[in-house]
Amino acid sequence: MHDEVLMRYYGCGLIAPEALKSARFLDLGCGAGRDVYALPQMIGEQGFVVGVDMTDEQLDVARTHQDHHRDAYGYAKSNVEFHKESIERLEDLPLDLASFDVIVSNCVVNLATVKLEVLRPAFNLLKPGG
Ligand SMILES: C[S@@+](CC[C@H](N)C(=O)[O-])C[C@H]1O[C@@H](n2cnc3c(N)ncnc32)[C@H](O)[C@@H]1O
Repeated sequence: MHDEVLMRYYGCGLIAPEALKSARFLDLGCGAGRDVYALPQMIGEQGFVVGVDMTDEQLDVARTHQDHHRDAYGYAKSNVEFHKESIERLEDLPLDLASFDVIVSNCVVNLATVKLEVLRPAFNLLKPGG
């Protein structure tokens, strides 16, 4: 992983269950992308990770290193994307309902004052059983 991404990692551990091959992930409050870039190693080239954050400076770092990680993993195409948005406004993003297997958040849902504003729309983005 790129050093600049790791230097701007402000989370705690890695939040991912097992058996993730080809899974579609959503990371709420992805910051500079540490988890977004760690997950493709577990989900493989067929999986996909979407990162959402509200801070331009963090997203700039994340996006700057997109090609670096695609090359490092030997993938033909990057399988991550980033969106700028508050996690309290997930409905405003062009994300399909019931389209994610796993939603993670590393030290960010705890920052939301009204957690249901995050969790209800997030639940709608999960596939049944996600
Ligand atoms: C503690 S850092 C964690 C970042 C990342 N998950 C990590 O592990 O490095 C908090 C991040 O959450 C973002 N954030 C805080 N509140 C947010 C909100 N309501 N919507 C979107 N992003 C938010 C900040 O911009 C920052 O990048």
